[in-house]
Amino acid sequence: MLIRIDSPLSVDQYIDLLNASTLGERRPVEDREAIRLMLLHSNLLATAWDGGTLLGAARCLTDFAYVTYCSDLCVRASHQRLGIGRQLLRKVLEAAPCRIVLLSAPKAVDYYPRIGFTQHTSAWTILPGELR
Ligand SMILES: CC(C)(COP(=O)(O)OP(=O)(O)OC[C@H]1O[C@@H](n2cnc3c(N)ncnc32)[C@H](O)[C@@H]1OP(=O)(O)O)[C@@H](O)C(=O)NCCC(=O)NCCS
Repeated sequence: MLIRIDSPLSVDQYIDLLNASTLGERRPVEDREAIRLMLLHSNLLATAWDGGTLLGAARCLTDFAYVTYCSDLCVRASHQRLGIGRQLLRKVLEAAPCRIVLLSAPKAVDYYPRIGFTQHTSAWTILPGELR
């Protein structure tokens, strides 16, 4: 298994991984243009490979100095709990040695504290149309 940084991914490869990890339930996998933009504008992408098979990914936006937003962390269901998620995050932290911020999917709420993340009690989000 090899972890790569910024290895190019096609929209189809990424949609396939999202679905195979179950994260596709919570990402716009029916909207290819959205997925294309998500890949295009990420500036740090760690990927795990077994030969030509994409096993997992951590898709991030970072300034490489202060903060990294990890938008998607996903590992193919057939390869979960083998340490791949942890290795992907380790590679992200090596490439961008600063704080990672993320929103946990419901299925992963117990994962992040287990591997060392601290829950932030004053995280806030807003969607277009909600600003008053
Ligand atoms: C959550 C996810 C990224 C974790 O990746 P992974 O490669 O399976 O996890 P790791 O092998 O790095 O696990 C590290 C440790 O956390 C544990 N763990 C893994 N998934 C867990 C979960 N969902 N809940 C609690 N603990 C979990 C592992 O058992 C392991 O424990 P250990 O150190 O005692 O052996 C992966 O399971 C996944 O893709 N899940 C579905 C998509 C998802 O919810 N992504 C998160 C989006 S925010």
